[in-house]
Amino acid sequence: MPISKCNNTEDFRRLAKRRLPAPLFHYIDGAADDEVTLARNTAAFNETRFIPNGLADLNGMDCSTTVLGQKISWPFFLSPTAMNRLFHPDGEKGVAQAAAKFGTMYSLSSLSTESIETIGALTSGPKCFQVYIHKDRGMTRDFVERCKAAKFDALCLTIDTLVAGNRERDIVTGMTVPPKLTLKSFASFAAHPCWAWNYLTSEAFELGNVKRHMKGGDNDLTSIIQYVNSQFDPTVTWKEAEELIGQWGGPFAIKGVMSVGDAKRARDAGASAVMVSNHGGRQLDGCAAPFDMLGRIVDAVGDDIEVILDSGVRRGTHILKAIAMGATACMIGRGYLYALAAGGQAGVEHAIDRLTNEISRNMTLLGCAGLSGLKRSMLQKGNPMERT
Ligand code: FNR
Ligand code: LAC
Repeated sequence: MPISKCNNTEDFRRLAKRRLPAPLFHYIDGAADDEVTLARNTAAFNETRFIPNGLADLNGMDCSTTVLGQKISWPFFLSPTAMNRLFHPDGEKGVAQAAAKFGTMYSLSSLSTESIETIGALTSGPKCFQVYIHKDRGMTRDFVERCKAAKFDALCLTIDTLVAGNRERDIVTGMTVPPKLTLKSFASFAAHPCWAWNYLTSEAFELGNVKRHMKGGDNDLTSIIQYVNSQFDPTVTWKEAEELIGQWGGPFAIKGVMSVGDAKRARDAGASAVMVSNHGGRQLDGCAAPFDMLGRIVDAVGDDIEVILDSGVRRGTHILKAIAMGATACMIGRGYLYALAAGGQAGVEHAIDRLTNEISRNMTLLGCAGLSGLKRSMLQKGNPMERT
């Protein structure tokens, strides 16, 4: 199936499954333990229904918004995700260029295969860098200075990954970093000669941001779980988040906020935004869905800081439901990773294009000419016969 035939995230997912060796597909697709939270994240959107209005004057429809100090043309942007070059040689460069082309923001992970400097120099589009606090605090502080020099616009600090979640699919498939031919993975790599050829003939794998801080470079890596558990510091507290926000001095989001208490702590620490997220169900299984917590968090801190929704977004309507609930914008992770694996930068562009189409078409069907027209009163939850 060609990319042009992919109409939605599920189509891209199926194509990614065909194109990627099993360890890589399941690294993207999988989540923690029984993957209950992964399923709930999207189900939460689907349990809420719209109540549209008709014959509104829709002249000059505008779906833009401002997030982390950046005007973006659409109310969604791209979440930070690790090691993109494993999925397609276009890697982070392709994803960042696709985001810039559509006037939306790109987020680069601490664990990317391209460096802060490479991505900083690549596009003039809005860019956010995602920080993981490492035991090596020098590395963390260095990230911030490198982002200033590379003219990143914003930072986010991920707080839900003090240890790695239990991704059982990675154990079953033998997911190693970089990919290695093992007894478990051999058949899968052999069955995907196209991917193998691309991987072997493109730039060698490296963790672009952290390798200069690792003793043996990134040659000592065995798995991303092993990396997280040995390098990240589970003793980090809000005091350090506050220091990091001070060191950066610009727009700063806390990613992985799920409770009203943490949203308030993030605000009090000086953050300009919270990303309500459970890491796409990859960390704490049994965790509530971000969309189920969104209303309460918006009510608590929405007048003071931006509230961004991440995890489970698969459709334009999911984004519009989050905006109606009071979010400033949404983020997508797997929504672009499947497309990257399926077709590189062109795949990501097609996926973003599909979502923007869904957003403008459904804005029309809802009777809204701008995002401020989306109100909580246009959402129905629970018993549909109750008066709203
Ligand atoms: C992620 N995510 C992530 N988050 C982060 O802060 N730093 C990271 O390096 C990564 N890496 C990563 C890799 C892969 C393969 C996935 C799928 C996800 C989490 C990501 O930013 C985001 O929170 C989730 O992907 C959102 O859920 P959906 O949109 O995938 O359902
Ligand atoms: C993941 C880590 C790297 O979700 O954030 O795989």
